[in-house]
Amino acid sequence: MSTRHESPRHGTGFGADNKDLGLANDETTMGGVPPADAGRFSRRQVLKWVIRLGYGAFAVAFVLPALAIRSLTQAPKDVAVGDELVYAPGAVDVPVGEPLRATDLQEGTAVQVFPRDKADNQNNLIEVVRIGAGEGAEGLVAYSAICTHLGCAVYARLNEDGNIACPCHASQFDPGENAKVVGGPAPRPLPSLPIQVNPDGVVVVNGAFSDRIGPQ
Ligand code: FES
Repeated sequence: MSTRHESPRHGTGFGADNKDLGLANDETTMGGVPPADAGRFSRRQVLKWVIRLGYGAFAVAFVLPALAIRSLTQAPKDVAVGDELVYAPGAVDVPVGEPLRATDLQEGTAVQVFPRDKADNQNNLIEVVRIGAGEGAEGLVAYSAICTHLGCAVYARLNEDGNIACPCHASQFDPGENAKVVGGPAPRPLPSLPIQVNPDGVVVVNGAFSDRIGPQ
């Protein structure tokens, strides 16, 4: 007869079975999830996070560079020889997007144009002025319409003195004298642009700007 009574009820407590504690066997873990299932659930959670991190890494490694390349390939284009000049938006009473013809301009008048399909680059804004009568490009001059002071776009119309004027700080440029500065703080003339007139009368670019655009 043993004097040792080893009932689980009187053990350390860790050895007490569920029946003794009044619990069903499947109630030994939080939420009633058996330990083995709880382990699988936890792994699923980890797997989800790994997949999410994988998507994030994919975006950083491939999608963002692809977007950057796309924006580079869509970079604004510069003026080039042969570009047809079309009326710029913003001016009143002009057929925006229509080609500029040499006969459109009266002596002492000006108009602003862009190279066709290149209006997304503001530095391509061009002022064409008729400074005298003539056939073809004779009597016509073209300049950058971006002020060399701080880069504002000059007025499309000549001022009362027949000069190209800037609305920002009142610089003035003489279109008959290679757009030299005749007033205001602009440090240098507006760059000139060679043009010619096609057989159909449309004005096109025939060279590069004589200098850098704007205040650069
Ligand atoms: S930006 Fe034209 S005068 Fe200042």
